[in-house]
Amino acid sequence: MSSAKMFTGEEIPLEMHKVRIVQKLRLVPIEDRLKAIAQAGNNTFLLQSRDVFLDMLTDSGVNAMSDHQLASMITVDDAYAGSATFTRLSDKLTEIFGTKYFLPAHQGRACEHILAKTYVTAGSVVPMNFHFTTTKVHITLCGGSVEEVIIEEGLKSKSTCPFKGDTDIAKLRAVIEKHGPQKIAFVRLESGTNLVGGQPFCLQNMKEVRKVCDEYRLMLVLDASLLQDNLYFIKTREARCKNKTIREITREIADLCDIIYFSARKLGAARGGGIITNSEKAYRAMRDLVPLYEGFLTYGGMSVREMEAMAVGLEETMDEEIINQGPQFIEYMVNKLDRKGIPVVTPAGGLGCHLDAKAFIPHVPQVEYPAGALAAAMYIAGAVRGMERGTLSEERNPDGSEHLSEFELLRLALPRRVFTLSQVKYAIDRITWLYENRALIGGLKFIEEPAVLRFFMGRLAPVSEWQTKLAAKFRTDLGNSL
Ligand SMILES: Cc1ncc(COP(=O)(O)O)c(C=O)c1O
Repeated sequence: MSSAKMFTGEEIPLEMHKVRIVQKLRLVPIEDRLKAIAQAGNNTFLLQSRDVFLDMLTDSGVNAMSDHQLASMITVDDAYAGSATFTRLSDKLTEIFGTKYFLPAHQGRACEHILAKTYVTAGSVVPMNFHFTTTKVHITLCGGSVEEVIIEEGLKSKSTCPFKGDTDIAKLRAVIEKHGPQKIAFVRLESGTNLVGGQPFCLQNMKEVRKVCDEYRLMLVLDASLLQDNLYFIKTREARCKNKTIREITREIADLCDIIYFSARKLGAARGGGIITNSEKAYRAMRDLVPLYEGFLTYGGMSVREMEAMAVGLEETMDEEIINQGPQFIEYMVNKLDRKGIPVVTPAGGLGCHLDAKAFIPHVPQVEYPAGALAAAMYIAGAVRGMERGTLSEERNPDGSEHLSEFELLRLALPRRVFTLSQVKYAIDRITWLYENRALIGGLKFIEEPAVLRFFMGRLAPVSEWQTKLAAKFRTDLGNSL
């Protein structure tokens, strides 16, 4: 993707690919959208995809695959054990990351399960720049706890800081000193911190984290699920890395880690996951859990087709012209909204555009899930499906009270190479309309609340008639438009 200046002066991100397989979409009228969101219990995870026009729920497993990836899926070695497909993938990981050992798993959270089961015991602490939902649950289920050590700037929705995912080194030291290094299971870094707007860390900061780990003899574990966006940001925002290739930056990052794990639903644009390391000790410590929970060591729950596509996808991740599409589209969307005064997380990160629901609808209290309410409103306004990343995505405190989230974000993910610019413009238009009518948006309350990871399957209802009023206003303003 390149940025091209139009004769009109407008600068737009230009797709450096052509689309040759398409999927037909439907845009159902707002009256049907009202019914669909009610049937889904106001939870966008429970909407049927046929009722969704722009599916911005996630970038997980829904990125567009390349022609080379699809072609590779034909020439697979479908063996339970010792598959040549596994060897090709394993060799590619070694070539890119310089790691000797590879443990396959069916997706990112499966890697977290194995890591937590191996290294987290009752009373363990895992310091990290920021938590991810499934990461935290796996750690707490093993009796451990999470300590977040992200820089203060990372917790501000509006900022000009280019690396809001950086670790506060003083905070990290303080956490280690407070608990004692023997209590620290490992230090975790998340590239492209998911829950705070897809914000990256810089290589320099990572080196400082490594130094602290060396000082206290701690393992550094990298969650590389969103590494590709982070690589692009290091290359374009970190002056000292300007002349390095993506491959060189990747290798420098990998050399700083004891263990790397990833969701290949994101990194590698396929569906799967894995843990890689150079440490034979770590490999042996985790190895036996793979056949138990995932599948034999040469497939780990993945289909061989996905493994072949992943090997090609990982190679393509080393191409800046390929990985820059996501961040550039996101930047376009974020900047357009920001210029209109609509509260979005800035600077633009990876993964998607994040609306700041606390600032968008400040009249909705956090206990009525403003980000969840905004997700429902966004679907009603435009059949655009986003994901709540706020209090609803948190687990309750042990006493049953709400754990109010630092952020209330509506994440509108931009799966890579999936949407066109006119679709992004449509989303911007419907967000703008919603912002003009934000006073109409009300809160949500649970009618069915699962005990764990409630955001996936929980069902909610609006606290008033606000959704019908919002739909009526849409008809007044936009007439018969879909
Ligand atoms: C940073 C991060 N870690 C882990 C995961 C879990 O990966 P998966 O969805 O493949 O289980 C995700 C998924 O969104 C993620 O963004």
